Amino acid sequence: MSSTHPTDSENTEEIKGLNQEFSFLDQTLRPSRFNEYIGQETIKKNLKILLQAAQERSHPPEHILFYGPPGLGKTTLAHLIANEMGCQVKSTSGPAIEKVGDLASVLTNLAPGDVLFIDEIHRLNKMIEEVLYPAMESGVLDIIIGKGPSARTIQLDLPPFTLIAATTRVALLSSPLRSRFSGGTFRLEFYTTEEIEKIVKRSADILGIALSDGAAHEIARRSRATPRTANYLLKRARDFAQVNKGDLSPQYVAQALGLLEIDELGLTALDRKILEVIIEKFNGGPVGLSTIAAALSEEVATVEEVNEPYLMQLGLLERTPRGRVATPRAYEHMGFDIPETQ
Ligand SMILES: Nc1ncnc2c1ncn2[C@@H]1O[C@H](COP(=O)(O)OP(=O)(O)O)[C@@H](O)[C@H]1O
Ligand SMILES: [Mg+2]
Repeated sequence: MSSTHPTDSENTEEIKGLNQEFSFLDQTLRPSRFNEYIGQETIKKNLKILLQAAQERSHPPEHILFYGPPGLGKTTLAHLIANEMGCQVKSTSGPAIEKVGDLASVLTNLAPGDVLFIDEIHRLNKMIEEVLYPAMESGVLDIIIGKGPSARTIQLDLPPFTLIAATTRVALLSSPLRSRFSGGTFRLEFYTTEEIEKIVKRSADILGIALSDGAAHEIARRSRATPRTANYLLKRARDFAQVNKGDLSPQYVAQALGLLEIDELGLTALDRKILEVIIEKFNGGPVGLSTIAAALSEEVATVEEVNEPYLMQLGLLERTPRGRVATPRAYEHMGFDIPETQ
């Protein structure tokens, strides 16, 4: 499987800086209660029932899986559930659990009722999955002691816990693993402009930024329908207004986001390059994802997890069995003539 790390070192530095900024913002602005968590109404309804039923039975909720593109609120929901239940959350991730022993130590260190959060669960290796199944299903940990003919298995009872897992690539999860999330599997949806407006207004309050309705709307429109992006754009726009010694007006927001090469649909430079490559180099497609990524010297995973879902959401890109196709709307947005065959 390809890694998500770019090879170009300058690019790596830039991404590291961005990630630090993202994680600072994520932690400061993360809602910890259902009433602060905006949107995703169906998921919230289901979770509230699940949590209340669990509380009434005095038992931890069953295991839950969240999936969807980055920045939509999966990690936030995991922490929020723990918070609503009044319990601890222990966090780890698929790539951090390298050996069976790593998982064993995480599991045996859980306190009764804890939430165990595993991010990027699609990157867990198969051997570790095998250990996770009985832990999820029957609350036991099978450990093999010794080697060869004298090896034997001992079984440890684990404290009752809830596994909450998140992934951007649900298709990569094996079906035995997926079937063990008995509390439910939930797909996070992109947010509406109105929802993002509420989110940036809340963030502005927390960060002490005066934000007009017009400016909130301008940010929301260009946020790729994603709360994390909206919060990031809010900070960038605030910096821009500060340096120019002005208020955070819609005009400043537009200028700041223009500098970041974000257009009025919220597309980034890479989003546009993807459409351009499909239209110009491959006659609008169909063309395979790995071909597109190679033409742009980008990681397949980045294009698939980050760019493609939003381009499809906007109806600019379609997935067909033979590859990706740019829609007439994409031609229009990118300023190309729509060919006869479309
Ligand atoms: N529904 C929401 N309401 C308000 N803020 C949200 C919501 N979802 C996400 N956010 C904000 O976006 C940030 C990124 O969310 P996160 O849960 O880390 O996304 P993911 O884990 O899906 O990549 C959070 O820190 C939070 O500030
Ligand atoms: Mg996350």
